Amino acid sequence: MTSSAHEGAQGPHHASGAAPVALEAIGIVKRFPGVLANDDVNFDIQTGEVHTLLGENGAGKSTLASMLCGLYQPDAGRILRNGVPIELPSPRAGLQHGIAMVHQHFRLVDRFTVAENVVLGSRDLSFKLNRRELNDAVAAVADTYGLPVDPTATVGDLSVGQRQRVEIVKALYQGAEILLLDEPTAVLVPAEVEKLFENVHAMTQTGKSVVFISHKLGEVARISDRVTVLRNGCVTGHVASKGQADAKELARLMVGRDIDLAAQRASHPIGHEVLQIRDVNLTMNGVNVLSNISFNVHEGEMVGIAGVAGNGQRELADVIAGLLSPTSGTISIGGAMSTDRGPIAARELGLAYVPEDRLGVGLVPSMSILDNLLLTRDRNIVVDRASVMPEATRLIDEFEIKANGPEHMARKLSGGNAQKVLLARELSGGRTATKLLVVCSPTRGLDVGAIETVRRLLDDARSAGQAILLISEDLDEIMSLADRVLVIYRGAIVHETPGETASLEKVGAAMAGLTQGSA
Ligand SMILES: Nc1ncnc2c1ncn2[C@@H]1O[C@H](COP(=O)(O)OP(=O)(O)O)[C@@H](O)[C@H]1O
Ligand SMILES: [Mg+2]
Repeated sequence: MTSSAHEGAQGPHHASGAAPVALEAIGIVKRFPGVLANDDVNFDIQTGEVHTLLGENGAGKSTLASMLCGLYQPDAGRILRNGVPIELPSPRAGLQHGIAMVHQHFRLVDRFTVAENVVLGSRDLSFKLNRRELNDAVAAVADTYGLPVDPTATVGDLSVGQRQRVEIVKALYQGAEILLLDEPTAVLVPAEVEKLFENVHAMTQTGKSVVFISHKLGEVARISDRVTVLRNGCVTGHVASKGQADAKELARLMVGRDIDLAAQRASHPIGHEVLQIRDVNLTMNGVNVLSNISFNVHEGEMVGIAGVAGNGQRELADVIAGLLSPTSGTISIGGAMSTDRGPIAARELGLAYVPEDRLGVGLVPSMSILDNLLLTRDRNIVVDRASVMPEATRLIDEFEIKANGPEHMARKLSGGNAQKVLLARELSGGRTATKLLVVCSPTRGLDVGAIETVRRLLDDARSAGQAILLISEDLDEIMSLADRVLVIYRGAIVHETPGETASLEKVGAAMAGLTQGSA
C-alpha cells in the first residue's frame, strides 16, 4: 500500500512550497446495512488540482464524495477545510464552505429554464434580479469557464451533456471552490469528454479544485494531478500522476490483481468470408440511415466499426441480426442469404448478437438469469434447467455478475450486470454453432476486471475461428482489438484501415466527417 503524506497528522500539514490543503478527510468510516462503504479513508485536495477518486463500481467513491459535500454523515472521521475542522450536516453547509457535488443522476427541474435551475436553491441576491439580469449573470459564469450554455433554454430540451454543464454552472454560480464530479464522463460521448476536460482545466487555472470520480483508467491517467484508488471501501493507494499515471499500476490498485488490456490482434491467419454485406441501403421515415454499405468479415477476423453514436451503426447491427430489413442490398452469413429472413433465421445461420439495448432486445427482464442464459440455446429449456445450473453459477462467478444466484430476475440487475449476463450468454460457447458474433459496445459500463474478461472472451472467439463485428464508440477499444477498422459516418463507410497501423487522428477525423473524398 502506498502511504499518504498526512498519516498521523493532527492538523493542517504545510510541506514547504506545497499548495495549501483545501480539504482534508481523515479516517472516514461509513457503514450501510451489511456494507462497510468507507473504511478509514484518508483523502485530501489541494487548491487548483484535479484529484481523482478511482475505483470499480461499489468501491465507495460516491459515498466518500457525498460525505465531503454534506449529503451523508460519516460514522467516524474528521473533515478539515483549510486546516480547520468543519461540520457538514447538509449540502447547504457544504456550499457555505464552497463545496459542491455534481451527482451522477442530475437534479434539475425539466420544465425550468437553465438560469432558473442555476439559481434554484441559492438564497443570495439572485431572487432580486430580473430575468434579464439573471440570464446575464448565469451566462457570465458559464463564459468564464468556457461552458457553452443558453440560460434561456428549457432544461427538458437539453442533451445529457448540456444538462451536465448546467449542473457545473450551477455549482460555480453558487460559489463552489471545490467541485466533486461524480463519474461525469459516464454519460458523455468522446467529443464531450474532451470539452469537459477543457472546462476542468479552466476551473483549476482559476484556483478551483476538482475531485474527479471515475473508473476509466485512460482518462484518469490523463486528467489527474493525483489519484486516490479505492477498493471495497479502503484506500489501496495514493498516486501522484501529473497527467501521466501508469494505467497498469492504477488497474492493479483498483482491481487487486494484474490486468492486461494490451492490444490483441488475430494470431491465426483469417479464413473464408463469413459475413458478406453488399450495397446495403436502409431508408427509415424518408431518411437514408445506411448508404451503400459493403464489407466482409472473415473467419478468425475482428472488424471494428468506429463512429459517433447515431451514425447508423445501431441500425447496421439490427440489419445484420435480421431485426430490420434493408431497403436494398444483400446480407449473407456463412454463405447463405439472410436478407429479409428475420432474426431466428440469422441465429440459425450462426449469428450471436449483443445489441446496444441490453434489456429491450437482449434479455427478457421478467425471466431469471438462468432462463436468460438458456434462451438462445437450441435445446429444450424445461429439460435442461437443472443441468445448466452449475454452468450458470460458473458464468455468474466468471463474469463477476452481482446477483443472488441463477434464479435472480434479469430486471433486478443493474445495467452493468445485465450486460454481463448477455455477454456471458453470447460469448460463453454455449452455442457451438456460432460463426459470426456481432457485439455492440461490449464493455461499456463494465469494471476493468470485467472488461479484461470480455476482451479475452472476444479474443478466444476470434482464435476459435469466429468472425467478429465489433461496433463501439470506444475508439481505444476498437484500435486495440480490431484487425480492421471501418469508420461509419452518416450511414456510410468513409474510412478503412488495418487495426495494426490505424492512426488515431485519421480515424477520429473520419468519425467527425472530416475525410476528403470517400472510401
Ligand atoms: N444509500 C445507500 N444505502 C445502502 N447502501 C449503499 C448506499 N449507497 C451506497 N451503498 C453501498 O455502499 C457501497 C459503496 O457504494 P458507492 O459509494 O456508491 O460506490 P461507487 O460510487 O464507488 O460505485 C456499495 O456496496 C453500495 O451498494
Ligand atoms: Mg458511484
